Amino acid sequence: MDVLSALSAARLVPVVVLDDAADADALAGALVAGGLPVAEVTFRTAAAQDSIRAMAARGDILVGAGTILTAAQVDQAVAAGASYIVSPGLSRAVVERCQELGVLALPGAITATEIQAALELGLTTVKFFPAGTSGGAPAIKALSAPFVGLKFVPTGGVGPKNLGDYLSISAVAAVGGSWMCPRDLVTAGDFAGITALTAEAVALAASLRP
Ligand code: 3PG
Repeated sequence: MDVLSALSAARLVPVVVLDDAADADALAGALVAGGLPVAEVTFRTAAAQDSIRAMAARGDILVGAGTILTAAQVDQAVAAGASYIVSPGLSRAVVERCQELGVLALPGAITATEIQAALELGLTTVKFFPAGTSGGAPAIKALSAPFVGLKFVPTGGVGPKNLGDYLSISAVAAVGGSWMCPRDLVTAGDFAGITALTAEAVALAASLRP
């Protein structure tokens, strides 16, 4: 199964912020135990690269890198073992570096103009970020009318209360969010709490499956 198919099958992409790479293995274990062997580790902390390395080495979780802003960060993330690259916005340099390295690029695109730019780069799926403040589910529905076949991964402001709004849209491949692994639980070492939140999210997504 390719990475995009695996993300679409999971339907949920937990957005992870790790301050200490020493927590990475336990966090990955918590997500796997919760039934979600997927993580997007954000390049917002100095621990990102080592965290990706530790998680990817387990072999039981699909690890991507998030908040990737430059081609150099693509190189760092892929060298650490990232299988996909997520960006908040659309950067030609980032996407082209991903394509050179053969890894999936998931850049943000929220306007018709940004989506056309993504299509011109050969992409079939974009992140829709920040989803909640960019029109949410109705905006995705409106954009999917002209952009037939394009898939979205809405992220930003998504949680249990509105998950169904997004997962009910056929153009939504998966939904991303941090609600399954809040930073304070990671910092507190409450990995059982993360497993519980993850399991709840997985059960909710399964119940919403069309
Ligand atoms: C992201 O990086 O994609 C977002 O920060 C996640 O947004 P959320 O915290 O609202 O889920």
